[in-house]
Amino acid sequence: MTKSVEITFARSAKPAGGLAVLVADGKGALGPAAVDVDPGGVLEKALRVSEFKGKARSAVDIVAPAGSPADRVVVVGLGDPAKPDADSWARLGGAIAGRFGKAKKVTVFLDAPEAGIDGEAAAGIAMGMVLRAYRFDRYKTKKSDDGNNGDEPDKVKVTIVTAAASAAKKHWADHEAIAAGVILARDLVNEPANILGPVEFAERAAELSKLGVEIDTLTEKEMKKLGMGALLGVAQGSVRPARLVVMRWNGGKAKKKPVAFVGKGVVFDTGGNSIKPAGGMEDMKGDMGGAAAVTGLMHALAARKAKANVVGIIGLVENMVDGNAQRPGDIVTSMSGQTIEVLNTDAEGRLVLADALTYCIDKYKPEFVVNLATLTGAILVALGQYHAGLFSNDDELSERLTAAGLATNERVWRMPMGPDYDKLIDSKNADMKNIGGRYGGSITAAQFLQRFVKDTPWAHLDVAGTAMATAANDISQSWASGYGVRLLDRLVRDHYEK
Ligand code: BES
Ligand code: MN
Ligand code: ZN
Repeated sequence: MTKSVEITFARSAKPAGGLAVLVADGKGALGPAAVDVDPGGVLEKALRVSEFKGKARSAVDIVAPAGSPADRVVVVGLGDPAKPDADSWARLGGAIAGRFGKAKKVTVFLDAPEAGIDGEAAAGIAMGMVLRAYRFDRYKTKKSDDGNNGDEPDKVKVTIVTAAASAAKKHWADHEAIAAGVILARDLVNEPANILGPVEFAERAAELSKLGVEIDTLTEKEMKKLGMGALLGVAQGSVRPARLVVMRWNGGKAKKKPVAFVGKGVVFDTGGNSIKPAGGMEDMKGDMGGAAAVTGLMHALAARKAKANVVGIIGLVENMVDGNAQRPGDIVTSMSGQTIEVLNTDAEGRLVLADALTYCIDKYKPEFVVNLATLTGAILVALGQYHAGLFSNDDELSERLTAAGLATNERVWRMPMGPDYDKLIDSKNADMKNIGGRYGGSITAAQFLQRFVKDTPWAHLDVAGTAMATAANDISQSWASGYGVRLLDRLVRDHYEK
């Protein structure tokens, strides 16, 4: 069971029992609720002794304070409201939820004197709590104290007390939708590959029809007819058949061109005949992080009824070693008609995306296409785990993605592209080969994708470092981060819902 956080907003509440959380401003000052929570003045001493200054997300935890109607009181700092951190409200919510411990009932007072926490901020704080509380423990049959499935309750009731309660409720509808999209993406990435093959993933995506998303699932037979030789070449080594799922949300004006998102969905990547070393191969269950983000994004957009026309396409395959698996040196013909010499069967993501991108652009003629993929280990070498690599043929789209990244703290960093790099994937035997040389591996991968997007404004996000095996932070404690859902929701919200 994923830990669930049930949120209610109220204009006032008495902190009877349970955990009471007070938010202090950047000077460490508390609002009027402090008197209700602590009639005996215990807090003042506690804050003084711990030299609490209201630093962002710092906290003082007081168990059973004398005279308090609450069983436990936590004071959390907000930092300087004049200099907010990126995504500070969600992160504050995350910091608060990080202190829930064994509490089943939590009352959070957002009345810090100089903070001016409005309805949208309160909803952002609530979203941070929900994201922080997420855990993936459905296969743990016993409770344990290992931090993964500790003796924490499965359900926490949180009352958020704010003067802006009614505005907060309105904003919460959107924020709750986005949180659900992130959690869907995390669940898909965390799920092991024996449970989540291409067909099972397609079935999960098809469940979005409940939210009004139109679903079209292509089978191998249909993909063969369309000439998707690149995608199918990867899939041929697996006993589990490939799928291509198209998700469409039509929340915009009828004639308006859609925006499009395409995801790499390799449910497991052994490398194929160019097999990967055994150590760490288990991480390759997350090689569908791009597809998971696109699915989570479609969930978020539909659940919050975004006023935009959006197409989400995911290429779902398993890259396995088998008597029928493709060989290094094989030449395949992509849907675009371009031929590819497969010199390394472990550079499979670009083969899947080549056909998914061609299908997307030919069929939907989108205003732009953004693809997401756990594409290269090299992007981890270049950028580490805190920025996704951004590769694009369009400055405006790049700037918008960069701004959305700063706002959501799902950051991107633009990487170079150009003809010198493109030359590196020319092949003697076919139109191109699927690997470049030793250097700039993330860039040559991007150059490969660009050969399939024609003149469409396009951006490729290499999320190998940000979607899976991610470092824990204020709002994400799981192996999978759900990276990309909030970033792209923000992109759509800020520019394509007018
Ligand atoms: N799925 C991997 C990339 C990857 C590596 C994702 C680490 C997440 C963490 C991809 O299919 C791959 O194997 N790429 C190769 C490309 C090479 C063969 C040109 C790589 O990065 O080594
Ligand atoms: Mn690979
Ligand atoms: Zn891969």
